[in-house]
Amino acid sequence: MQKTIFISGGAGYVGSKLVEFSLKKNLKVVCYDNLVYGKGSIQKFLKKKNFIFIKGDIRDKKKLKKVFQLYKIDFVVNLASIVGDKQCQTIPKTAYEVNFLGNKYLTEISKSKRVKKFVFASTCSNYGIVNPNEYADEKSELFPVSLYAESKIDCEKYLIDQSNKNFSVTILRFATAYGVSNRTRFDLTINSFTYEALKYKKLHIFAKETWRPFIHVDDMCLMILKVLDIKGSKLNGLVLNAGFTSNNFSKQAIIEKIKKNVKNLKVEYVDAIIDRRDYRVNCDKIYKFLKIKQNKSINQGIKEIIFNIKNKSIKERDIKNNLLDNNCKKLQQFYKY
Ligand SMILES: NC(=O)c1ccc[n+]([C@@H]2O[C@H](COP(=O)([O-])OP(=O)(O)OC[C@H]3O[C@@H](n4cnc5c(N)ncnc54)[C@H](O)[C@@H]3O)[C@@H](O)[C@H]2O)c1
Repeated sequence: MQKTIFISGGAGYVGSKLVEFSLKKNLKVVCYDNLVYGKGSIQKFLKKKNFIFIKGDIRDKKKLKKVFQLYKIDFVVNLASIVGDKQCQTIPKTAYEVNFLGNKYLTEISKSKRVKKFVFASTCSNYGIVNPNEYADEKSELFPVSLYAESKIDCEKYLIDQSNKNFSVTILRFATAYGVSNRTRFDLTINSFTYEALKYKKLHIFAKETWRPFIHVDDMCLMILKVLDIKGSKLNGLVLNAGFTSNNFSKQAIIEKIKKNVKNLKVEYVDAIIDRRDYRVNCDKIYKFLKIKQNKSINQGIKEIIFNIKNKSIKERDIKNNLLDNNCKKLQQFYKY
């Protein structure tokens, strides 16, 4: 029988790709989003028979309840969030409400409606700073350096507490994403560096020695869908670093990869500013469970960004709208701060 997946934040960077992949898998998709960044990312799905869009706020308990009464939901993937350190700082009270309370309401309703699996998108940012040469694993101490990470950690604790044999919760601590989606974000390291390199042929990079784990947006979606596919209770109550251990890189190493794709690129390294997010993450545990190999490398991600900008599939206007500062302005306007 056809299964129904509820994707909150389904119009976002990850969400709009997950919608696409879910429809390809013949899932019925209920996409729930308040459209902070508009509807463009899901426009092409609106006429599809297995796609239902509901405009709503994840903090709107009544609306969520109605939707869950109307549709028999099998799986819930919560991607609705104010995403990023600066974004959360820009609208702190709302950000915590959306990230924590919104997730709590969605959990309560999912549990009462006997949803089979609940997947929560957390972040490797929870690790904050990790000793150089050490890789954080799921047992490592968390050291959040932002409200964003704090809100995600609170959600994790809450969800683990809520999971039981009838309510299966899996928490994926995602690495930093890259690559093209139906709403490609340009406030993310690899995407924004690639865009700036292409446009200005010049990059100013601070804290070049800081490390991060990375993952292609397609691989994020494949991992989520694999979690939903795995039968039984193996993944219930688990927190998994979601990325690939071999895909941790320093900013400088990323720049070297971009240099190979953008001719005559000048790079100026600025050491004065410290980046408080510096961590390498071990993702061996998720591989043990999901057996998913990396589908798209950083080099492929860089190339597809360049290709889509050059052939104008991604327009300059869309890039500008999705740069960090504009993204924060958009949030301020939308949430009336
Ligand atoms: N992109 C990454 O690098 C990354 C890394 C780790 C974790 N994550 C997590 O993955 C999830 C998706 O991230 P993304 O990159 O797609 O971000 P995004 O900002 O593109 O998507 C978030 C979506 O949530 C929606 N939203 C915001 N507030 C809402 C509300 N109150 N009610 C309903 N919908 C609301 C937005 O309209 C947007 O479509 C988030 O939970 C994020 O924390 C992302």
